[in-house]
Amino acid sequence: MTRKATITGVGKYVPPKVLSNYDLEEMVDTSNEWIVQRTGIERRHIAAEDTPCSELALKAGKRALENAGLEASKLDLILVATVTPDMPFPATACLLQQELGAGGAAAFDLEAGCSGFVYGLSVAEQFIVSGTYDNILVVGAETLSKIVDWEDRSTCVLFGDGAGAAVLQPAESGGVLATELGSDGSGADSLYLPAGGSLNPSSHSTLENGMHYIKMEGNQVFRFAVKIMGEASLRVLEKANLKPEDVDFFVPHQANTRIIKAAAKRLKLKDEDVIINLPEYGNTSSASVPIALQEAVESGKINDGDILVLVAFGAGLTWAAAVMEWNKGGR
Ligand code: ACO
Repeated sequence: MTRKATITGVGKYVPPKVLSNYDLEEMVDTSNEWIVQRTGIERRHIAAEDTPCSELALKAGKRALENAGLEASKLDLILVATVTPDMPFPATACLLQQELGAGGAAAFDLEAGCSGFVYGLSVAEQFIVSGTYDNILVVGAETLSKIVDWEDRSTCVLFGDGAGAAVLQPAESGGVLATELGSDGSGADSLYLPAGGSLNPSSHSTLENGMHYIKMEGNQVFRFAVKIMGEASLRVLEKANLKPEDVDFFVPHQANTRIIKAAAKRLKLKDEDVIINLPEYGNTSSASVPIALQEAVESGKINDGDILVLVAFGAGLTWAAAVMEWNKGGR
């Protein structure tokens, strides 16, 4: 029998501080109406100044482990998807390993922009299906508020902080049925953070020129996203020998309601089958898919036997999709 990988526990954490569109009206030349109409976002959660990414990851990770009924000491691998690590190195996953008390577990970060969690899910699946590991924690955790230019209205209204996590373990059937990963580096300059790496090491000049903030060509990213979210979803369904009508729930990256609706339309999905929590959290990058998944599971929407499509796009440009048969209890 083929060994499958399934999600046996999910967890999420968002910081308590909320920044509404009305708060943003006081900070930049924008309006609640513009933000809601163009993006669907109403508010976002913002981490405290002294809260690093690893703290959000820890809270979400602990909840996922509890939900799976697994002790941290049993973990074989911890994978953190993030574009806002505590620092360039060591990996945030190593800091999390220490905080969780998961001594000995392998740990590394994965950077694939907002597609990071779905990339991570696919990597974890490979380790489980190959028989290398049994217990893996995949976390998407972000503190985008710390790399956003709060004077740039074209980006600061979009992002929020948070973390979502999933425990993956072996299963006899169901679980991850297929994945689809991809990238197009020709779009690297449409969404990037210029300074702090080897190309532009941090200096007075990078700081003065605001090169430590997110730069984005919103229109280019939007066009890419509308195209790739639908395409990647159709491709991954084909790999799993399934059709759009087999999908019970669509769990997309939460960047913009218009992007999500365009992708859902390509799959001819009903509104109630599309998980949207964007109004509450904004775009939390690699945390968005696992937070949406956790909320849909916790609310009782998603149940064993349901077919899910998880799909994301992000900086790189990257995309990632996974089709799953939910069987949290079916191991
Ligand atoms: N408030 C008011 N007006 C604004 C704001 C704002 N916050 N931001 C931009 N505008 C103005 C612009 O200046 C422009 O004015 P102009 O016509 O006088 O020049 C006008 O609104 C229209 O701007 P557009 O950029 O054309 O607006 P658009 O409808 O494309 O929406 C948006 C912009 C929301 C950014 C959209 O392009 C988008 O969602 N893109 C995808 C972004 C994304 O998902 N990024 C994350 C990727 S994931 C990752 O890896 C981090």
